Amino acid sequence: MKFKLAPSLLAADFWNLEKAILPAVEAGADVLHIDVMDGHFVPNLTMGPIVPKALAGKTDAILDVHLMVTNPENFITDFAKAGAHWISFHVEAATHAHRVSQQIRDAGCKPGIAINPGTPIAHLEAMIDHVDFVLLMSVNPGFGGQKFIEATYQRLAQLNALIEKSDNTPFIQVDGGVGVANIGRLYQAGVRCAVAGSSVFGKGDPGQAVRELLAEVEK
Ligand code: DX5
Ligand code: ZN
Repeated sequence: MKFKLAPSLLAADFWNLEKAILPAVEAGADVLHIDVMDGHFVPNLTMGPIVPKALAGKTDAILDVHLMVTNPENFITDFAKAGAHWISFHVEAATHAHRVSQQIRDAGCKPGIAINPGTPIAHLEAMIDHVDFVLLMSVNPGFGGQKFIEATYQRLAQLNALIEKSDNTPFIQVDGGVGVANIGRLYQAGVRCAVAGSSVFGKGDPGQAVRELLAEVEK
């Protein structure tokens, strides 16, 4: 799969969302990452289906909804209707993960399973065959702008090994603390979609930031 950069809207200027998003997409970001937090699974509140609904049809970018919520099954229909293309949910949050991934597929979206830095990779084993991607958290979810956790590289090796021995080949997405200093190494380690919040929207020019990040991957 061609590498995809996924700017996280959490770091964008909500006063000027269009001005933040369009240059990023024009510069080659294929995916827009939408962080949904419920104040329960994670200690923060963010956005609901009105955000993808506002973006749907306005760009060609893939709308990637990252559910950091308990009871993810309650939100799938609404996000799918709002225009989400990908929906990921946390292995730590789903009592019936297998059913949730099926629900996402039935709603017409690509299911992804997300995993926190403190959860053993082995917990994904039963789900690898039932998802289109794995979202490996490289920070503890809840906030943008945190420092990348270096142990992610070891976990990537474990995840690649798990995928290797399974029948399915979900792509790997990494989320948290991604920037020009590590995106190249992450790509080399098998990551095919990198989420980037502050490294895209935290500076003045999102388009330029996207070009710099993608240049690291193309090196
Ligand atoms: C963290 C979110 C991330 C976050 C990434 O809970 O899931 O998607 O927005 O932001 P940065 O790139 O600033 O770490
Ligand atoms: Zn995220």
